[in-house]
Amino acid sequence: MSFIEYRGTFYRLLHPRPTILLITLCPNGRFNIMPASWNTPISEEPPTVGISVFREAYTYQCLEYHGEATINVPGIEHADLVYKLGSVSGKDVDKIKTFNIQLIPSETIKVPGWKDALAIYETRVLSKFDVGEVRLYVFEVLKVKVRPGIADEWSLDFTKVNIPLHGAGRVFHRVDPRKVFARKH
Ligand SMILES: Cc1cc2nc3c(=O)[nH]c(=O)nc-3n(C[C@H](O)[C@H](O)[C@H](O)COP(=O)(O)O)c2cc1C
Repeated sequence: MSFIEYRGTFYRLLHPRPTILLITLCPNGRFNIMPASWNTPISEEPPTVGISVFREAYTYQCLEYHGEATINVPGIEHADLVYKLGSVSGKDVDKIKTFNIQLIPSETIKVPGWKDALAIYETRVLSKFDVGEVRLYVFEVLKVKVRPGIADEWSLDFTKVNIPLHGAGRVFHRVDPRKVFARKH
């Protein structure tokens, strides 16, 4: 078996990635929402999630203004909306109003969640690092909420719901609900 050098953008072979919608409170007094597929759980104690935010995005200004956010897990049926929310900036458009995003109050923070999400994480900024053109935010997870009947202790039930895994551009993939069990040793 041999390899050839990959000529595409370096991260493409690490996609597709689960895409979340990050809701923040902004200096203009409004809430904003942006998709982010560069996200990952980081630690269990404390529970944290890292999200890479382009420093030109309005979300960056919003997180600097108010260090709380909700991480909202959309269903695959919202792929068009997810893509649109990533194609315009809260600097220019009130995305909550324009895209008729219904908000629900959070229990632990001032920033609300998205009513139509499959799951909502209430979080606050724990630390941050600049790397190249982005700021990597580490969010401490304060509360995790999920719609009843769509998840067990292991994961979402992908026979019932699906999520948009971001491929590239406007391409999304779905999770194959068939499980592959590794052999016990
Ligand atoms: C599917 C998808 C995933 C994205 N992932 C990220 C990401 O992880 N980090 C980021 O900074 N921008 C990401 N973007 C781009 C931002 O969502 C986009 O720049 C958005 O307009 C920023 O909105 P804002 O200026 O209102 O914050 C993504 C866009 C799409 C469509």
